[in-house]
Amino acid sequence: MFKGLQPILYGGREVWPLVEGGKGVSATNHMSSGAWAAAGGIGTVSAVNADSYDHEGKIIPQIYRALTRRERHEELIQYAIDGAVEQVKRAYDLASGKGAININVLWEMGGAQRVLQGVLERTRGLVSGVTCGAGMPYKLSEIAAEHQVSYLPIVSSARAFRALWKRAYHKAADWLSAVVYEDPWKAGGHNGLSNAEDPLKPEDPYPRVKALRETMREGGIPDTTPIVMAGNVWFLREWDDWIDNPELGAIAFQFGTRPLLTQESPIPDAWKQRLMTLNEGDVLLHRFSPTGFYSSAVRNPFLRNLEERSERQIAFSGEAAGDHQFQLDVGVKGKSFWVTRGDLLRAREWYGHGFTVALKTPDNTLVFVTPEEMKVIRKDQADCMGCLSQCGFSSWADNDTNSTGRLADPRSFCIQKTLQDIAHGGDVEHNLMFAGHAAYRFKQDPFYSNGFVPTVKQLVDRILTGD
Ligand SMILES: Cc1cc2nc3c(=O)[nH]c(=O)nc-3n(C[C@H](O)[C@H](O)[C@H](O)COP(=O)(O)O)c2cc1C
Ligand code: SF4
Repeated sequence: MFKGLQPILYGGREVWPLVEGGKGVSATNHMSSGAWAAAGGIGTVSAVNADSYDHEGKIIPQIYRALTRRERHEELIQYAIDGAVEQVKRAYDLASGKGAININVLWEMGGAQRVLQGVLERTRGLVSGVTCGAGMPYKLSEIAAEHQVSYLPIVSSARAFRALWKRAYHKAADWLSAVVYEDPWKAGGHNGLSNAEDPLKPEDPYPRVKALRETMREGGIPDTTPIVMAGNVWFLREWDDWIDNPELGAIAFQFGTRPLLTQESPIPDAWKQRLMTLNEGDVLLHRFSPTGFYSSAVRNPFLRNLEERSERQIAFSGEAAGDHQFQLDVGVKGKSFWVTRGDLLRAREWYGHGFTVALKTPDNTLVFVTPEEMKVIRKDQADCMGCLSQCGFSSWADNDTNSTGRLADPRSFCIQKTLQDIAHGGDVEHNLMFAGHAAYRFKQDPFYSNGFVPTVKQLVDRILTGD
């Protein structure tokens, strides 16, 4: 028998320890988070390039008019602040005094601090907490405390939390309302795998969360401060031994993938339909994101194309050296590309199949693409509006030189473009479709049989039963 959950005190009221994970771009918004809060849980508005609306209530397309990246970056920050403020206000109204509303930002998004400051200044009293992952958000605690909201760092190891706590968070201990443990192998979206972990060997979350609790205790954080388990959570009955377990302390659960398929979920219908067709193994943990982080998404033609592009890759030297004794005669201009004999033959074959252009990567390799693909890559790089603090794809960086100092990497892609597109009705096969590794369960879970799409309230009620 599933022992069931007890409400917790959060943001000054009793709520279910159930969190809707924040999802950018526009995969959680006021509709989903407001409904989640109204159902008694903690909803999360994504403050990552959120949508604003015109006077008719239509989404304002985020069009960039400025000529330089730096100026477009400023436009982006303004869009981001205006959008998130609008979303928070609407979510708060929909919640009608129940549950709680959090906001989510990515630390590695361009202008993260300014966006967070800007949103919190204009949403006083409406936001309970800020969840923040991707990178090491040392400044999160200070910004949250300054605006008198709580903060919930998202980490994937006890080690990461220890570093954050020691350097910054212990100074704002009162505002820490929970720590989110996000499974770096299984959760949807960006994943916090470190070099110490093997992407091919998923680890059991239990000992890792136990270690996180021990680290929190060392810092003097009480066991009543919940750890929010995120990633691969589907039926709570499968997590029964985590609940009321003195070893782990207070536990809450965060859902990212399951709430994608609700009536109020803002993602387009085609994306919802596709979720119901996924099989085990259809979600791929990969490293193509321009952030440099691992991430998990459906292995659709978009992702397969990136996999194949990376396979059409050869190393080169600027002069004849070692095995590199053969001058490349396809895909490049000039004579300073020396490759192995095997790679020369492979390159000629790709050329014969239409991959006639070789593009340099920052790792002294070349990838072969079609001329059409090259045009798209170059255009996307030129259109960059600096949405990340460091972008491997365009080499934009939010620093004095506005450059990472590395060559732009054609093996990656513009994540801003593709996430905006898929969230607003673009093709689900040719865009990045983030999803958790448990997404195949939609097809198996009887709750969704005959294409049933629940309301958020129905989903929360169902989750509370253990299913
Ligand atoms: C489409 C999608 C977008 C996401 N975007 C974000 C994001 O912008 N920020 C963030 O902290 N987490 C993001 N996540 C992670 C979720 O908030 C959540 O932690 C995760 O999905 C939980 O694992 P699950 O997918 O197994 O439910 C995203 C997840 C998905 C599926
Ligand atoms: S190229 Fe990179 S930084 Fe520029 S908009 Fe695209 S993802 Fe963002």
